[in-house]
Amino acid sequence: MVYQVYPRSFADSNGDGIGDLNGITAHLDYLKKLGVTVVWLSPHFDSPNVDNGYDIRDYRKVMAEFGTMADFDRMLAGMRARGIRLVIDLVVNHTSDQHAWFRDAVTGPGATHRDDYIWRPGKADGLPPNNATAFFGGSAWTKAGPGGDYYLHYFAPQQPDLNWDNPKVRQNVYDVMRFWLDKGVSGFRMDVIPLISKDQAFPDLTAAQLADTAATYAHGPHTHDYLREMNREVLSHYDTMTVGEAIGISDAEDGKFTAADRHELNMIFHFDASNVDRDGWRTKPWALPELKAIYDRLYGALGKDGWTATFLTNHDKPRAVSHFGDDAPRWRVASAKALATMSLMQRGTPFIYQGDELGMTNYPFTAIDQYNDISAKNLWHEQVEEGHVAPAEMLAALAKTSRDNSRTPMQWTAGKGAGFTQGVPWLAINPNHVTINAQAEESDAGSVLSYYRELIALRARMPVLVSGDYQDIDPGNRDIYAFTRKIGDDRLVVLINFSEHVVDYALPSTLRLKERLIDSVGAASAMAGAGHVALQPWQAAVYRYESQ
Ligand code: GLC
Ligand code: CA
Repeated sequence: MVYQVYPRSFADSNGDGIGDLNGITAHLDYLKKLGVTVVWLSPHFDSPNVDNGYDIRDYRKVMAEFGTMADFDRMLAGMRARGIRLVIDLVVNHTSDQHAWFRDAVTGPGATHRDDYIWRPGKADGLPPNNATAFFGGSAWTKAGPGGDYYLHYFAPQQPDLNWDNPKVRQNVYDVMRFWLDKGVSGFRMDVIPLISKDQAFPDLTAAQLADTAATYAHGPHTHDYLREMNREVLSHYDTMTVGEAIGISDAEDGKFTAADRHELNMIFHFDASNVDRDGWRTKPWALPELKAIYDRLYGALGKDGWTATFLTNHDKPRAVSHFGDDAPRWRVASAKALATMSLMQRGTPFIYQGDELGMTNYPFTAIDQYNDISAKNLWHEQVEEGHVAPAEMLAALAKTSRDNSRTPMQWTAGKGAGFTQGVPWLAINPNHVTINAQAEESDAGSVLSYYRELIALRARMPVLVSGDYQDIDPGNRDIYAFTRKIGDDRLVVLINFSEHVVDYALPSTLRLKERLIDSVGAASAMAGAGHVALQPWQAAVYRYESQ
């Protein structure tokens, strides 16, 4: 049971408005009580924070705002004392442009670290080496330093891509990994890991390739060679867990990263589900059968022995309840519980993003200057300031999709600063913290937090919920998500009403309910032996069943 901590927004221990490692240490009992067994910590390394820590200046130093190495060691010891393992973020497709390697590389051809990055001359007509675009907008090439060459950056210009074809670069990365593993961390979440290998010929991309740069960049020639080498040289020597952020990878390709006999990674994150309503930066309507089909394809591709990570959101996505549920006061609690049931009862290792266990919602953004995120700002610049899109349209889209929705501070209490900080928070706190907060939910048996605890405990005591087969028993149903989990005679059915009306749901004729294990509403909605069940709006329940 993995819990993602976004340190900047988790808990601020010294009143500077920025979450820090001591803040995390102070809340370890909260994580323990929730049932968390692994923490994934978003980057805690020294960084100029152009992309909130995903631009690393020194891989062996703790970001000063987050604390010191002694604070890190204390946090890690506190986790280990509670049986919680720590997985850190490995961001090695790129560094910060402030990293010592790049500062040297940019001094010109012939610099010691020049080939740690990817440099190419521009085209004769003054254009960059090819037409590749960056995820945060503009060209993926920036001209810098003497010699007039361009360097490659798939993200911001302040995030130059490392040259993984240089064996020295790979050894440097492996040394960084060993440094943290030797301290006692238990593995890595690997940032945009499919992007590390590049087609170094850099041909111009076709329109189709440019339309999906994630897929284009994710299919370099040597990714798997490098992951196998990393496994052989580093991971196989430690007791680790790895999860790759598989942007641009289809579920059919999952096994190339995760099949046990390939010795690469343990699991990867797929983004099809979180992109079900996305069309570039725009949103589009979606229906439940599309979401179910995505899970079905994934499990089909994984096969019986495959393994995956399941999650509803992370620091790059909007809040789950606002995205897939209904965050209006009337349905927020019920729909957050329904989504928790969907995610935590799936087959895979569940990842919970901080605050989701409280049913935290998107922030009520109304103006561009309320955003912090580089991708929102760049999009605004490219689309609105350059006159392609009306401000109101972009503001409506960003309010739904912006990464800042998940990055607002944790809501611990109803008080000023939400129990997150005594000072001025780096990003505005959602005004709904007066009702949605850990303290209020702690003492409420019907809260989202209480339900998460119950679900996690249920999963922890029932192996069938971890490794049992998954089957969608009603893929076309637009209101109800009904799936079974089974190993041998251990048979469970998970029923979730995604609609805002009561549904009298008839089970397949071969299936009879036996015992209710958990219910998000609490009402005894079906009798043992029943062949149908009246599901309240957004109700979720898990039953044992018998086959007839
Ligand atoms: C990943 C991170 C994201 C970051 C990007 C560049 O997608 O999750 O936050 O902006 O990589 O490092
Ligand atoms: Ca602080």
